[in-house]
Amino acid sequence: MKLFHSATVTKASMDASKLAQYLSPKSNRYQHILGVVRLMEDLLPSLQIPDNWKPHVIQACYLHDIGYSPKLNQYGFHPLDGAIFASKKGFVKPVVSAILFHSCAYEIAQMEKNQKRLSIYQAHLPLLDEHDRLLIDLVTYCDIHTSPTGEKISFQERVKEVIDRYGAHHPVSKMMVQNQKHYEVVVTRVNQLIRPKIT
Ligand SMILES: [Fe+2]
Repeated sequence: MKLFHSATVTKASMDASKLAQYLSPKSNRYQHILGVVRLMEDLLPSLQIPDNWKPHVIQACYLHDIGYSPKLNQYGFHPLDGAIFASKKGFVKPVVSAILFHSCAYEIAQMEKNQKRLSIYQAHLPLLDEHDRLLIDLVTYCDIHTSPTGEKISFQERVKEVIDRYGAHHPVSKMMVQNQKHYEVVVTRVNQLIRPKIT
């Protein structure tokens, strides 16, 4: 399975009304996605990244959890199902990469030991470049700072919320705790891209 295109320009786009064709606007998931987009829009003016990368960042935020749509379920793993959808729609490689790898998806795929899924990740991992990795970091950063219903929260609150919601022994909670260091590294990298405010 090849999910990455060589094209750097696409007419494909995603927004709140198109997203509503895949996830109900009344669902928490939909509100969470809009919260991630809002946080990214707030962050973008102070981010030291090339201007022509910024539309890709917003598209990736709209798409990052679209794989939860029952309409798109193929592998039962939302980062992969979402990336397959975005690839078929013609989104550029950094956007597809951000969906596929956001929020420790590769690390989770490794832990779950589903060989079919894992082999797709292992085939795409060596293809990631600087642009792709930056988008993965930015989507992950906004994802872990947004509550399940779309409010801005701290990373520590997000970890606590996951443990409260699933219970400490649930695999989702265990993965969150086990990957905490990885998330902290992402937060540090993104913080280094934020231009300090002049007071
Ligand atoms: Fe998310």
